[in-house]
This record gives sequence, structure tokens and C-alpha cells, in this order.
Amino acid sequence: MKRPTEQIYGNYSPEDFLVWKTLYNRQMAILEKSAANDYLNAIQQINFSADRIPDFMEVNKLLAARTNWGLTTVPNISPVKEFFEFLTKKKFTATCWLRTMAQMDYLEEPDMFHDVFGHAPLLTNQSYCDFFKELGEMAMQHLDNDEIITMVGRLYWFTIEFGLIQEGGQTKVFGAGIMSSNSESHHALSNDSKKISFNVKEVMHSDYRTDILQEKYFVIDSFPQLAASVGEIRKELEVYIK
Ligand code: CO
Repeated sequence: MKRPTEQIYGNYSPEDFLVWKTLYNRQMAILEKSAANDYLNAIQQINFSADRIPDFMEVNKLLAARTNWGLTTVPNISPVKEFFEFLTKKKFTATCWLRTMAQMDYLEEPDMFHDVFGHAPLLTNQSYCDFFKELGEMAMQHLDNDEIITMVGRLYWFTIEFGLIQEGGQTKVFGAGIMSSNSESHHALSNDSKKISFNVKEVMHSDYRTDILQEKYFVIDSFPQLAASVGEIRKELEVYIK
């Protein structure tokens, strides 16, 4: 399907606004209790609300003022190299189109609700951004090394997409794949899934599937812990450098 390559705000239809509002309200009802505080605060910092589809220009201004990160519009999910290369430039590749009302619960490719509602808020958090940029740097340095790319992909998957965080004695969610999915946000904190303390080595050697609810999630102690893990990751990767 042909997707927009830039956001033209006037092109959003009443259905687009209804989709955003429905998903936003449904997710916030769960996330108010289950999301990381930093995420919930960030939602306010970048001015998200149920009634307005975010305007990329405004979001980028607010992100730039905090971490110097921003969104860059792509029509569809980015190829690996493009995705990682933009991270090194402090840009997250995001789509600007929304699923239809009929696709509310099942979507094959990420849309703007996933990319923007799920990913953009924590781009206000410096430690999270530092870690994210480092993933991009590591991938770009070893683009021709499949083993390393696979391991960087797992680090990305189990943190940025499906990460949990320990907060005041409670486990909360922060991964974008959880934030933007109704079933995943119930499942992630339920007893049906395994929770494991974040551990660089184990994450790097954990396979995952993209077509099911996750069987296990890794729990970080804090975002600074994530940023500080980069040294250990780089050391682990050395073994695989050819
Ligand atoms: Co994502």
C-alpha cells in the first residue's frame, strides 16, 4: 500500500482522529497504572492527548529542547541499515499514517500509533536516548556481521520494544510494543509471562518471535542502568568481531 512520506496534517480524516482517540483512551486506561512514570510524565511533556493526532513538527520541537532527538517520517518500517543509521543521528524513523477502525487490534506493520504513541515519549529521557543511539552506533560499526546485528537486534527488542522496569517495588512497562498493544499490555504484567532481571549476556543470546505475545520480558532497574550497560555490551560483542 502506498503510504505518506511526510506528514501533511490536513490530510487526516475524521476516521484517523477517531482511531487515534479510541486507541489513546483504551491504552491510557491501562497504562495509568502499569506504565513507567517517566513515560507517563513524558506524554504530558510532549503534549499528547486523545483529541489530537500529534503534529510531528511540534513533537520534534519539544524533543529537540530536551534531548535533541526527533522523529523522521518514513512510509513503512525501515530497512535495518536505514533504521540504525538514523539512530546515530538521533532520529527515530516513524510512520505518520494510522490503521483503520477495522484494524484496531491487528496490524501487520507498525503504524503511527505504535511509532509515535509507543516510541516518541521516552525520547525525552536522556539515558534512554543514550542507550538507543549506542545501539545504532554498534550496528553501523558491524553492519556486515550478521551475528552482531542479530544480538543488537535482541537488545533493541527486549528493551526499546518490550522492556519492563522496576519502580518503587513494582514492575512497570516501557517498551513501545507493549505501550501500543492492548493485549500485550495486559499480558506483559500477568502471570502468563516470565520476567527476568535485565542481563546483557542473556538478552544477547535470547531468541524472540515477532508473531506472538512475548513469553518472557527483561526488567531493568532504571534507565541509567540501561545506558551504563553499553560498556559491557561492547565487551561482549568483541568476541564476535571477525
Ligand atoms: Co517499534
